[in-house]
Amino acid sequence: MAVGIFDSGLGGLTVLNAAQQRLPDVEFLYYGDNAHAPYGVRDAENIFQLTKAAVEDMWAKGCDLVILACNTASAAALRRMQEEGLPKGKRVLGVFVPLIEALTERQWGDNSPPREVDVKHVALFATPATVASRAFQRELAFRAIGVDVEAQSCGGIVDAIEEGDYVLAEALVKSHVDALMRKMPSPQAAILGCTHYPLMEEIFQAALGENVKVFSQGNLVAESLADYLVRHPEMLGTGKGGYYTTGDPVRVSSRATQFLRRELRFESA
Ligand code: DGL
Repeated sequence: MAVGIFDSGLGGLTVLNAAQQRLPDVEFLYYGDNAHAPYGVRDAENIFQLTKAAVEDMWAKGCDLVILACNTASAAALRRMQEEGLPKGKRVLGVFVPLIEALTERQWGDNSPPREVDVKHVALFATPATVASRAFQRELAFRAIGVDVEAQSCGGIVDAIEEGDYVLAEALVKSHVDALMRKMPSPQAAILGCTHYPLMEEIFQAALGENVKVFSQGNLVAESLADYLVRHPEMLGTGKGGYYTTGDPVRVSSRATQFLRRELRFESA
């Protein structure tokens, strides 16, 4: 039994980590498309084709449920995959909805019409492809009205983190927060809309100031997955868990171990 967690690279490990802590009895199959990361600078068609190929491989490995932990893949591929039809018994879920439900203080699956919410000014930090897709704003509009979203396309942070260059990543976070605050001087909330950014959460918080509530995905996605599995225990899948990569397993294992600060062994997908 394994639930699939997909990411373009290492970032989804922040979601996996939270899910493993929340659901210690569930086995997970993590799949990083490191050979093609970063996704955030690719076009939507290319991201769709790469995501679809990886998810099909995860289904073949025995997952019935795949979480697209990658915001960029959720933004560019999720809706199209669902609209084009999934094989019988297979599901794909993304990471925007749990985040937006937390931001708008909605219960899981509350599909009532959009309504006014307390938060009015929201900063979104995400990859260029996620920002270009406007998927976050689209999902938010289904649930809330009157919310002003200012999106900052954060070039370079993912590459710096994947390369293990945290000094550069920190400098880039500060400059992207500065750029955002020139456009929106007083955001009430900030969304870390990329799986890599929770690793820099303290830097985002310090640069934004303590009055800004920072929303990060790991725990929100884990909580919503736990809720989903109670209602759909049949989606636990049949395959075994593990760590797969389309990249070099030795290099990815070493970076992943540094990333989560515990030993992880990847094998070739
Ligand atoms: N993990 C992806 C996300 O959450 C970003 C990394 C990439 O650009 O591939 O958006």
